[in-house]
Amino acid sequence: MELTNGTYTIQGLNVADICKEFGTPLYVYDASKIIEQLKSLKNAFSDTDVRIKYAAKALTNISILKLLKKHGAGVDVVSLQEAHLALGAGFPAHEIMYTPNCVDFEEIVEGVSLGLNINLDNLSVLEKFGKKYGNTYPCCVRLNPHIMAGGNYKISTGHSNSKFGISVYQLPQIMELAQKHNIIINGLHIHTGSEITETDVFLKMAEILFGIARDFPALKFIDFGGGFKVAYKEGDMVTNVYDLGLKLGKAFKEFYLSYGRKLELWIEPGKYLVSGAGTLITKTNVVKSTPSVTFVGVNSGLNQLIRPMMYDAYHEIVNISNPAGSQKVYTVVGNICETDTLGADRKLNEVREGDLIAIKNAGAYGYSMASNYNSRFKPAEVLILNGEAKLIRRRDTLEDILRGQIDVI
Ligand code: LLP
Repeated sequence: MELTNGTYTIQGLNVADICKEFGTPLYVYDASKIIEQLKSLKNAFSDTDVRIKYAAKALTNISILKLLKKHGAGVDVVSLQEAHLALGAGFPAHEIMYTPNCVDFEEIVEGVSLGLNINLDNLSVLEKFGKKYGNTYPCCVRLNPHIMAGGNYKISTGHSNSKFGISVYQLPQIMELAQKHNIIINGLHIHTGSEITETDVFLKMAEILFGIARDFPALKFIDFGGGFKVAYKEGDMVTNVYDLGLKLGKAFKEFYLSYGRKLELWIEPGKYLVSGAGTLITKTNVVKSTPSVTFVGVNSGLNQLIRPMMYDAYHEIVNISNPAGSQKVYTVVGNICETDTLGADRKLNEVREGDLIAIKNAGAYGYSMASNYNSRFKPAEVLILNGEAKLIRRRDTLEDILRGQIDVI
């Protein structure tokens, strides 16, 4: 979203006009930004046989999946439902990485019958897998490296107390099961968390993975997960993907030369690809002053963007209806019957009731984590593609709230 000559636009389209056409609250995604991000990752890893598996959980709209597929991405899914969306978007099963955790073994069996790449993160599941498939179907193993990384504890997944992955200290048990059941382990995987800024975290993961990979002769790929950070506000630390691509790519090459065979390097970015492309546009219902705070109450809330309340995430907020207005300090809240602060103590151009308030960087884990709490509707989603605004999901209606309910009284 850009401010040009006093008007906020996306690909030249006036954001206020988009809202007039589709209503608010509205998730708007800029396709060109998503493609740009994908290209920058490809360039960053240009010397490496990199496979970019988009972490679908960040934003699962089928049009977004198709867009990423069209531009050469694979996909990473964590549930059978996401797998079916990916298959529906046209990803061939062999390009889909399936990393469920704590699921019933039947969900792994179905993943195999769909032909997905299976990533296992528990010893008991590995044992069941070995007994059932032996050397007939390969699998990848997700390891927990015991590294604390990522933006905060809630989005960190590779530390000692995390439920994810099989501990690297349990390598002997992995080897024992693999030998006993002739399991073909074709991949090793680590995902340590989200919003990792340091290249060194990935290099540390590489050191661990390369150290053990020699014991796995059937490898096809090594998967370093996602977690690349983008800027949520000016001056924010971000992952330098060029530094990462250069250093990780070099270490990877040195490794596979000594391994004796070329391997693929997989990564699973979610936020990096879609976060900055998305904006949640809301409308100011009320401006409410108390003796200490002036609230801007918008027609959205934690039901539509849970990140600020769940992770203390910072999303930049702008008043797109009054770019020349004098600045005042406001706390932007939603209309949910909970404390649902979207941004506290923010300097905004003077807000009047009816003004459009944009919440930036909402492409990742925005709509995909939205709910119908308070029986409110989920917003519509619009994709700006080649200078045209296209509705890619209609707003909920009361039928959606009632769908599936059974009245027995
Ligand atoms: N791979 C695996 C196995 C993952 O679990 C995740 C994210 C990713 C890749 C992609 O991570 P990303 O590149 O998007 O950081 N809802 C939280 C983030 C949770 C991420 C869960 N797993 C948030 O809004 O910050």
